[in-house]
Amino acid sequence: MALWGGRFTEGPDQRFKAFNDSLPFDSRMAVEDIEGSMAWARAISKAGVLSAEEVERLEKALNELLTEVKADLKAVSEAGDEDIHSYVERRLIEKVGDLGKKLHTGRSRNDQVALDLKLWCRHAVEELRKALTHLERTLVECARRHEGQIFPGYTHLQRAQPVTFTHFILAYVQMFERDYQRLGNALTLMSTCPLGSAALAGTAYAVDREALAVDLGFERATSNSLDAVSDRDHVMELLSCASISMVHLSRLAEDLIIYNSGEAGFIELSDKVTSGSSLMPQKKNPDALELIRGKCGRVVGALNGMLVTMKALPMAYDKDLQEDKERLFDAVDTWHSCLEMMALCFEDLKLRDTNVVKAAKGGYSNATELADYLVGKGIPFRQAHEIVGQAVLYAIAHNRALEELSVDEMEQFSPVIGGDVYECLRLENIINKRNIKGGTAPAQSRLEIEALEKLLAARA
Ligand code: ARG
Repeated sequence: MALWGGRFTEGPDQRFKAFNDSLPFDSRMAVEDIEGSMAWARAISKAGVLSAEEVERLEKALNELLTEVKADLKAVSEAGDEDIHSYVERRLIEKVGDLGKKLHTGRSRNDQVALDLKLWCRHAVEELRKALTHLERTLVECARRHEGQIFPGYTHLQRAQPVTFTHFILAYVQMFERDYQRLGNALTLMSTCPLGSAALAGTAYAVDREALAVDLGFERATSNSLDAVSDRDHVMELLSCASISMVHLSRLAEDLIIYNSGEAGFIELSDKVTSGSSLMPQKKNPDALELIRGKCGRVVGALNGMLVTMKALPMAYDKDLQEDKERLFDAVDTWHSCLEMMALCFEDLKLRDTNVVKAAKGGYSNATELADYLVGKGIPFRQAHEIVGQAVLYAIAHNRALEELSVDEMEQFSPVIGGDVYECLRLENIINKRNIKGGTAPAQSRLEIEALEKLLAARA
């Protein structure tokens, strides 16, 4: 049964119907549509459209329907109605007869769909914040387990200065924490309720829209009906949050893939998140991480698609807006599964200490320290930089590390170098010296971990 038809003399072409129907995917908003319908019934009853007894019957039937759709959402998606709004109305009429036909008084599918999707986004934010919290907790635990573990730090993917593995992991926790906060900001902007805007001009019934908004968990009602029915900022916003977070996940995936490679050998991923090759028996591939990296493109694509759909849409509702749902649902599902998968990758992740320390020691990553040592002896930094450059050149030519050069050898570059230089070139010393807020010193990481643990514990 379609919600319209009086004005038509023929039914739709089956090909058009298949093209136009959204029930196969907007059935995902069944719960939101029913909750919105119950609130609308209460609101129009207060406006004198329905009696108390009628609202009671409607709410009872809608509650029944709620249980039914929750039990079998697939059946809903295959029911053949035009969209979820038509489905709910048809089923309601089947349950309560003509009374069901009164529910749509003063309401349009345009404000209904705007409401349903906004509610859906708000629920999604909750689930995503849980998944982010779980990932953050997993990473903080890993950071704590490996406290003080020296790790090579890179810029340009060239060994730069030693850091700790903890510091590296915590860098990503900061990113995911911003993703969490970003969702909070997005939620704030999703706190207005569009219901009561009707098709575009606002409902003609004396509905208390502010009370209706609060009834549905919003802070207040939207202020302009044209905006309310055509606004999909919440979709673009959520897709932006998803895209930024997927970029973070993809960067972490890439780092771990490099560290897991035979060339680096810094970590070993567990068998739980890797797969083999059908041809090469020795292979253990980082598929989970590669898929996370790959799925980033899918989510960023969804954001791009949505932005282009919105561009140049004339005021107010246009059917183009129906294109908001599939990509949003897909992007949110994808992001959610990647958050979970990344957390799983950290279960049983092994750090190969010997390789890591060897790499941190190599690549002359203590050269800056030698320059600072010279500065400590009164040499201007620019000059110290030049001297150390020459020492590195010499060490490379002799295939040795800086700390493997004798004092005599080092003296040829600067007479101020003495026996105390070796202590200063030790990796632990280099790490411990960065004891400033945000620095890699274990004492600082400890503070960072404690602050994060406190923050995350408060999110039970
Ligand atoms: N299925 C539509 C959508 O997702 C619902 C709103 C339809 N409104 C209309 N006037 N055709 O956008």
